[in-house]
Amino acid sequence: MSETAIIGGTGLTSLNGLEIVRREVVNTPYGEPSGPLVHGRLQGHGVVFLPRHGSGHTIPPHRINYRANIWALHSIGVRSVIAVNAVGGIDDSLTPGCLVFPDQIIDYTWSRINTFFEDGLSSVVHVDFTRPYSEELRSLLIEAARVAGLHTVNSGTYGATQGPRLETAAEIDRLERDGCHMVGMTGMPEAALARELGLSYAACAVVANMAAGRGREGETISMDLIRQHLESGMEKVCRLLVELVPRL
Ligand code: HPA
Repeated sequence: MSETAIIGGTGLTSLNGLEIVRREVVNTPYGEPSGPLVHGRLQGHGVVFLPRHGSGHTIPPHRINYRANIWALHSIGVRSVIAVNAVGGIDDSLTPGCLVFPDQIIDYTWSRINTFFEDGLSSVVHVDFTRPYSEELRSLLIEAARVAGLHTVNSGTYGATQGPRLETAAEIDRLERDGCHMVGMTGMPEAALARELGLSYAACAVVANMAAGRGREGETISMDLIRQHLESGMEKVCRLLVELVPRL
């Protein structure tokens, strides 16, 4: 049984170097996860891989069944989750292709089911979310990146937006005033659901583009541009995971 899972985002629908052992379909009380859980070995260590947007990258951020994904991983014995998320860089230092390990979140999403604690409760539950990511896992990510010789940004606030459209320049100005350094669409409610089930959870954000109004004057953000930048970023993510997995 593998205790570690990697949830892949845009640009990471399969994991280079993963020797696939089997695929497992998990039924959950919350409906279907994004796909079968992929059990495999990375550097000889067992891991479970789940592409968040489905194996064909067809599930948009607001339609992902975050509860089913997290419940499925927990139900098979996973205890640590590394989430890979594509983001737009708001802070000048977060340029395309850069890897960032966020340490805070501001949630701007709406209408997503964001808790397991809804019905049939014997009392109301409020989980602590002061530090939304596991500091222990973040330290391991930072150490693995150092050993892999990767330049990374080791903190920052992730602004989670609803999507699927990208933001306006004014929305990005607002996020910056709020203290966000990067913006993405899939960080929440995933991190909060992981906390509710007691999973250790940390994220590796890959900068795909400068956020709206932050790139070159007049530049629009295209999926082609995002894909191009993600390719170089994902190559770094694979180098990072090769160092990380033996440490988990
Ligand atoms: N905004 C929101 N989500 C994103 C972006 C962005 O600019 N780039 C990649 N995911």
